[in-house]
Amino acid sequence: MFRQTRVRKAVFPVAGMGTRFLPATKSIPKELLPLVDRPLIQYAIDEARAAGIEEFIFVTARGKTALEDYLDHAPHLAESLRRGNKTSLLEELESTRMPSGSVAYARQDEPRGLGHAVWCARHLVKDEPFAVILPDDVIAGATPCLRQMVDAYRTCGGNLVAAMHVPPEAVGSYGILSSSAPDAALCAVDGMVEKPSPETAPSTLAVVGRYILDPSVLTHLSRAQVGAGGEIQLTDAIAAEIGRTGVHGFRFEGERYDCGSKAGFLRATVAFALARPDLRDDFRQCLAGATQVGVAAE
Ligand code: UTP
Repeated sequence: MFRQTRVRKAVFPVAGMGTRFLPATKSIPKELLPLVDRPLIQYAIDEARAAGIEEFIFVTARGKTALEDYLDHAPHLAESLRRGNKTSLLEELESTRMPSGSVAYARQDEPRGLGHAVWCARHLVKDEPFAVILPDDVIAGATPCLRQMVDAYRTCGGNLVAAMHVPPEAVGSYGILSSSAPDAALCAVDGMVEKPSPETAPSTLAVVGRYILDPSVLTHLSRAQVGAGGEIQLTDAIAAEIGRTGVHGFRFEGERYDCGSKAGFLRATVAFALARPDLRDDFRQCLAGATQVGVAAE
């Protein structure tokens, strides 16, 4: 059956508990933690917009109200900035404004895993290909990662997952791909396994948080099969499409930061601050003095 290859919808699973950032995430959704001054979710939205996404579907949960507030228009704040002639701040604020009706929410009642979170969006996705973006994977690159994927998807269709090689000792934290051409920019996948041990991993080619999926993946997720870690795994549902609509791994160009971990978040903070013309010089000086500061703080 022919399926359209235009990708209009993106699902943002943001219902996780973010336990690695406790106690902050007791009341602040992880996705609102800022890299410099933009929350993680804003980087994900900007990437989706650059890829031509028109419908933004957030899978939220209890305790994520601040996220919904963030995505709302803030007319009083805008008016106050306008009155104060704070033009550049106003522009910054307006750049985050979502068109009316472009945002929708689905609720995940229990944190049963990434696959379950994506399945919660099924009535909004309906029967068309869709993107999934995990906001805690921030990817910096000249061409935004999802844009690269949307372009590649036109040639391969089916299911496309962003992939990168990771150190062998890290495979247990990822979905790992098996392919006869793991070094190709676009490789046909013949197997996928979630969080394998280094001894059983088919390769070091790991899936990171960007996907373009055929809606048949949602049908597999309906079976609610529990996988690695006792969770409903997106990897397992995508793997079920190998030999059907097909699965490709896409080695994107860009630097990926794992902002779901503290070390990755700090690494991203440094990189994004150094990339900012308004902060670069001061911050470089701070870093130069950081060793001394560290010694003083101990
Ligand atoms: P993580 O594995 O990073 O889990 O989820 P987490 O709960 O956010 O964080 P930790 O491990 O407790 O620190 C990857 C993505 O999947 C979403 C998360 O919100 C995150 O964007 N997710 C995960 C859900 O939406 N629901 C779930 O049940 C699990």
